[in-house]
Amino acid sequence: MWRGKKVLLGVTGSIAAYKTTFLTRLLIKAGAEVKVVLSPAARDFVTPLTLATLSKNPVLWEYFDSEDDSGTWNNHVELALWADLIIIAPATSNTLGKMVSGTCDNLLLGVYMSAKCPIYFAPAMDLDMYRHPATRENIQKLQSFGHHFIPAGKGELASGLEGEGRMAEPEEIIAFVEEDMNIRSPLKGKKILINAGPTHEAIDPVRFIGNHSSGKMGVALAEQASALGAQVFLVLGPGSARPGDSTIEVHDVVSADEMNEACQEIFTNMDIAILSAAVADYKPAKKADQKIKKSGDNLEILLVENPDILRGLGERKSDGQVLVGFALETQNAVPNAIQKLHKKNCDLIVLNTPSEKGSGFGYDTNEVILIGRDEKTHTLELKSKSEIAKEILDHICNHLLA
Ligand code: C5P
Repeated sequence: MWRGKKVLLGVTGSIAAYKTTFLTRLLIKAGAEVKVVLSPAARDFVTPLTLATLSKNPVLWEYFDSEDDSGTWNNHVELALWADLIIIAPATSNTLGKMVSGTCDNLLLGVYMSAKCPIYFAPAMDLDMYRHPATRENIQKLQSFGHHFIPAGKGELASGLEGEGRMAEPEEIIAFVEEDMNIRSPLKGKKILINAGPTHEAIDPVRFIGNHSSGKMGVALAEQASALGAQVFLVLGPGSARPGDSTIEVHDVVSADEMNEACQEIFTNMDIAILSAAVADYKPAKKADQKIKKSGDNLEILLVENPDILRGLGERKSDGQVLVGFALETQNAVPNAIQKLHKKNCDLIVLNTPSEKGSGFGYDTNEVILIGRDEKTHTLELKSKSEIAKEILDHICNHLLA
């Protein structure tokens, strides 16, 4: 599970910080990409140089370098969004408390506040601090925010006292995260084909017929499916969006014919296919060999129909395969989408209604209606395309997978 995973390791000021050198080494050996962010106090326990050498990345601990006048700063939002997974180890009582209250007075706290990925904590503190009601309450609060805790171990503590509070060993942290992520991966072992973006249909060597699709919705679906454990094959038209997750197998295509060929080939071994691409319905009957010159007269281009990729997959879909289509309708939306669902033999159709403010082509948000074969509708209100993607996949896991 670690191969290609982007892990941000947050280290805070406890003596257990020395163990993060081993943790970094294990993550790198397992194939993860690691960036380390320290709390300022962590630098008293472990050197940035050691962790930078082991992680093969610069180690950061402040928003900007006070001795550097160039205006360069460490963007906490970029760091947070880069990470597929954050591990805070060791997590001190001070940092837990600040995270609960939303305090943001160092880079690591800024990263935490901006993160959207799963976050694991490995607390480390003296036994009385660990069992203090404030710590108990902070852990509960952070769990209620959706974060995960790797229980501290029992044994001799740096204070000389015996009890609970020792940070879990690096091997235990790795094993805990692996097991926990597996449980939270309902699509583990599943193969998903997703297509996304527009297609460009060539008129001549320099011109094409296209549309405004950015591919953002399909790329969000690919990233979320990968986060849920699926092996993802993304057939991507020439839009602007690309996935950040390097485990997604991207097949770049330009025309509907190329997209069709790639989808038909990949579909054979798939458990699920989600066709979100805005495929051009028509293409020029013939692509001119040379750039078409102005003639002073009107130009007529004969358009012929492109293959309907979704319908093609629907015709050959086997019993165990789940097929999801998208529909963009400007009038009589739900009845038209239902008709499309049956005509193309889909198990689910995701209806986009572009008239809604903030939804559709180019936006980072979307609002859709899910319609199943039973023709029941389920509206997903306006939210980010990532959140919409997660809810579509949750719906598939809960209603369509055996
Ligand atoms: O028929 P309509 O274009 O509205 O259907 C939309 C759905 O069909 C989308 O899932 C889209 O990806 C798919 N489609 C396709 N091939 C086409 C046209 C649309 O796969 N040529």
